Amino acid sequence: MRVPATKPYFSKEDIRVITKEFKKILEGKSFLSSYIHTEEFEKKFAKFSGTRFAVGCNSGTSALELICRSIGVAGKEVILPSNTFIATANAILNAGGIPVFADCTDNLCMDASDVKKKITEKTVAVIHVHIGGLISKDILSLQKICKERKLHLVEDSAQAHGSSLNGTKAGAFGVASGFSFFSTKVMTTGEGGMVTTSDQSFVEKMKSMREFGKVKTGIYINYHTSIGYNWRMPEISAILGIRQLASLPKFIKRRNEIAKIYDALLAESPDIRIVRPEAGSINNYYKYIVVLPNHDRSLVHKALQEKGIQPSGYVYELPLHKQPVFPFANKLSLPKTEFLCAHHMCLPIFYGMTDAQARYVAKTLTEALTQNKVQVTGKAQSTIPKNPHKTQ
Ligand SMILES: Cc1ncc(COP(=O)(O)O)c(C=O)c1O
Repeated sequence: MRVPATKPYFSKEDIRVITKEFKKILEGKSFLSSYIHTEEFEKKFAKFSGTRFAVGCNSGTSALELICRSIGVAGKEVILPSNTFIATANAILNAGGIPVFADCTDNLCMDASDVKKKITEKTVAVIHVHIGGLISKDILSLQKICKERKLHLVEDSAQAHGSSLNGTKAGAFGVASGFSFFSTKVMTTGEGGMVTTSDQSFVEKMKSMREFGKVKTGIYINYHTSIGYNWRMPEISAILGIRQLASLPKFIKRRNEIAKIYDALLAESPDIRIVRPEAGSINNYYKYIVVLPNHDRSLVHKALQEKGIQPSGYVYELPLHKQPVFPFANKLSLPKTEFLCAHHMCLPIFYGMTDAQARYVAKTLTEALTQNKVQVTGKAQSTIPKNPHKTQ
């Protein structure tokens, strides 16, 4: 049996509607770049997320940089988890800010108590990342901390479309949140991004910044008040996004069914710790994460591949503070992050996955764990590859 890591899903009806709308554009009846469909997608996404506004753009990375630039992080420190995709840090750096890496808790999301220790006079914001779609209760502590210390709480919700905690959806906990619609995400437009916020002043800045710093002034189209970018969302992405958003509840429901199959078949294994969602939360199961404390996971990864199963990437295999591109942070010690990054694994999970595929993955994993048991010390294994670009 073959099991891919992930697969996007568009129904026959989705394909019919998308093709019809795209045909209109190709026939010159509407505009190819950001226009009516982008506006519709923004309105629907904001309503879904429980925020007043949403601003569409061309990637999750540009969504995060729009937020960092709107806050004004230049020359100031922004605390983020070391366990995240590099785009979170790049958004801070490209907006002129200084990233400060914090440790995580057992659920791989940032540890609010470590954030507290890292706040200085230069701190302006905290970016919390909903890793794998998990909404950690630390977001509630961070809300309090940020309020007390007058810091901006930003969410990186690139992986958390539709996840929630105590009824609040990802995207509505902080002052602004960035989403990604990259091809592997729970809902996708191929490439694309969205900011959610309830702060109108952010919306004005972001809409200008995503379009060369333009401000509409009388008959002037090209009137610029800031250095902006071309980060517009193309209409075809918005058309895909509107359809995917309508299917999101059904996608999340099915992903939760797959997760239940994994839970039932893996819970008894002494070699597996399942990373569970918080009580009171809905997890969109962007990733189904297991921790394998007693194994060299590269052996397990290869064993699954040999049986036709594509493990679903890592979140993340090497933390940012150990990345060659950030030498200033390489000596930092973040023990929990280092251990979990080295020992976790993500199992395939996607809307079109069958129960039989899920059972096959669980069975193959359990067998692989029995056959590939190795002695590991409690410390993180050194999985850091040599930097191929280093000249000395
Ligand atoms: C946590 C996180 N942040 C930011 C991004 C960046 O999103 P994009 O790839 O759409 O630029 C991603 C996705 O790739 C992500 O997973």
